[in-house]
Amino acid sequence: MTAAPPSQSHHPHDGDIAISVRGLKNAFGTQIVHENLDLDVRRGEILGVVGGSGTGKSVLMRSIIGLQPPVDGEINVFGEPTIGRSDEDVQALRKRWGVLFQGGALFSTLTVAENIEVPLREFYPQIGPQLRNEIAAYKIRMTGLPPEAGPKFPSELSGGMKKRAGLARALAIDPDLLFLDEPTAGLDPIGAAAFDEQTRQLQQTLGLTVFLITHDLDTLYAICDRVAVLADKKVIAVGTIDELLATEHPWIQEYFNGPRGRAATSSRKVIEQEISHKADGADTAGKDKD
Ligand SMILES: Nc1ncnc2c1ncn2[C@@H]1O[C@H](COP(=O)(O)OP(=O)(O)OP(=O)(O)O)[C@@H](O)[C@H]1O
Ligand SMILES: [Mg+2]
Repeated sequence: MTAAPPSQSHHPHDGDIAISVRGLKNAFGTQIVHENLDLDVRRGEILGVVGGSGTGKSVLMRSIIGLQPPVDGEINVFGEPTIGRSDEDVQALRKRWGVLFQGGALFSTLTVAENIEVPLREFYPQIGPQLRNEIAAYKIRMTGLPPEAGPKFPSELSGGMKKRAGLARALAIDPDLLFLDEPTAGLDPIGAAAFDEQTRQLQQTLGLTVFLITHDLDTLYAICDRVAVLADKKVIAVGTIDELLATEHPWIQEYFNGPRGRAATSSRKVIEQEISHKADGADTAGKDKD
């Protein structure tokens, strides 16, 4: 458990760190969202990011992926600085990550398959239409969607299927790093748990590093290796849930030990049993009603 002490600013094993943020400051006009924010995301982990609404979780993600130029600070992804780089260098880095934005944001005029093909067209224009199609079909299967989902438009999908389609698009270019902003928001608990399980499986089989913003306590308990807590404009603590529980911070105590936190500990077990029953039924997760 650390609150990013000064000793963290020099890494003995830089190769183990996928994302490093130092002294980040973000502001909109006079509103300061982040100040002196430090964070390390380790290679291969699922890092959960929590914090009250409006504490700047999405802005942090947008800064890391270069959509929100910070006022101050340093951001490194896989050892490469992301701020103040040439377009070419940034493009090379962007090939290494996939993003599922808060709310999903599929292009409504494109089918699911066409949505998945967007990053392929952008980053690998040399790939022809047939191979692009095959890759899209593969990503559709990989995220547990039925093949029939490919030609459908987002408006024809359930909430859970939309999330999976967004995930498929985020995985289109085989990233090393996956950013998920509230991926299970709006799903019922069973659908959310199935999505979590899918995320965990993909992370393990593909060796992904995952930056996962969530309000979902079940998700934190089920799949996150560590959790970073945003409050007071910075990351106030990072660690396993047990490590966080050992801290005194009132927000952390309230969050994990409040009624919803306690419920998450026990409801998770019930949901996992439910999922394993479904899996025993030889049906794929994609056919679950999300
Ligand atoms: N483009 C923008 N222009 C001005 N203010 C912004 C912009 N984007 C975010 N903000 C402000 O920055 C703060 C942090 O926003 P952010 O979206 O990161 O919160 P969040 O932690 O993701 O919240 P939630 O849990 O509700 O998604 C908010 O006060 C928001 O109003
Ligand atoms: Mg947000």
